[in-house]
Amino acid sequence: MDDLQVRLVVIVPYFYPMEPRHPIGIFDSGYGGLTVFKCIKEALPNYDYFYLGDNARAPYGNRSFETVHEYTLQCVKWFFHQGCPLVILACNTASAKALRTIQQSDLPTINPTNRVLGVIRPTAEVIGDFTNTGHIGILGTRGTIASNSYSLEIEKFFPNVRVSQLACPIWVPLIENGFYESDGADFFIKQDLQQLLTADPLIDTVLLACTHYPILLPKISKILPKGIKIVTQGEIVASSLSNYLERHPEIESRLTTGGSTEIFTTDDPSDFDNHASLFFGTQVQAKRLQLPG
Ligand code: DGL
Repeated sequence: MDDLQVRLVVIVPYFYPMEPRHPIGIFDSGYGGLTVFKCIKEALPNYDYFYLGDNARAPYGNRSFETVHEYTLQCVKWFFHQGCPLVILACNTASAKALRTIQQSDLPTINPTNRVLGVIRPTAEVIGDFTNTGHIGILGTRGTIASNSYSLEIEKFFPNVRVSQLACPIWVPLIENGFYESDGADFFIKQDLQQLLTADPLIDTVLLACTHYPILLPKISKILPKGIKIVTQGEIVASSLSNYLERHPEIESRLTTGGSTEIFTTDDPSDFDNHASLFFGTQVQAKRLQLPG
């Protein structure tokens, strides 16, 4: 090797540092958001992504507005510090309890040019198209249902649709604790679905308004009468995001397109990896994140 070659080997990395990444941030209280992230990545594979599951503090479903807002905001700030200009709350509970305050009160002070989007509005925009009877059932966590966010949002887009809601507080713990295939799960799912259909027998569309619930899809579709459509959110949110990016070049142009994915959890990463493939469809390797206090 002559002198010139030696100098090139040393100098090139110095003059061409790695470009900073500006990923899309995807957030959930734990694993559930992976069911949405999977569809987003399939629809928009070229962007860089950071996924964060706040497993150490999950589930969020029964927590107060104040707590869900505090936890979600902390995670949103972490995404911003990593250089994410856009964060998707792939969690209905966080979308119902924290999104509005973050958009209206927090963003103007912490970073007015960044954006945080949720999963409720994109779902409400299209859910009325699935029903023939005009009667829809919504299943979610206690927090999502108590917020009444779905009824309010759906009414804006489909004022003639009748919405019946039911909180299913046992479903997330059943999934998170690995009982999603058990006979015990059948008992609770049957009980909840019967309650929903008794409240409104004309329901022909059931929305799974919790990103964990697609894991229970085989059981739900076996229990619900044939002819009732079951709607999950992954594809709806992915198509809405793609549409948003087309309409917002000021955000889209700030995103980097290296096609990379990094996954973070606030709890044990090996535990996360063991559960995550059920939600994401492929093996993942999460990193542990210690959120600043
Ligand atoms: N996956 C969350 C949602 O979509 C719920 C899980 C939780 O209770 O933290 O609402």
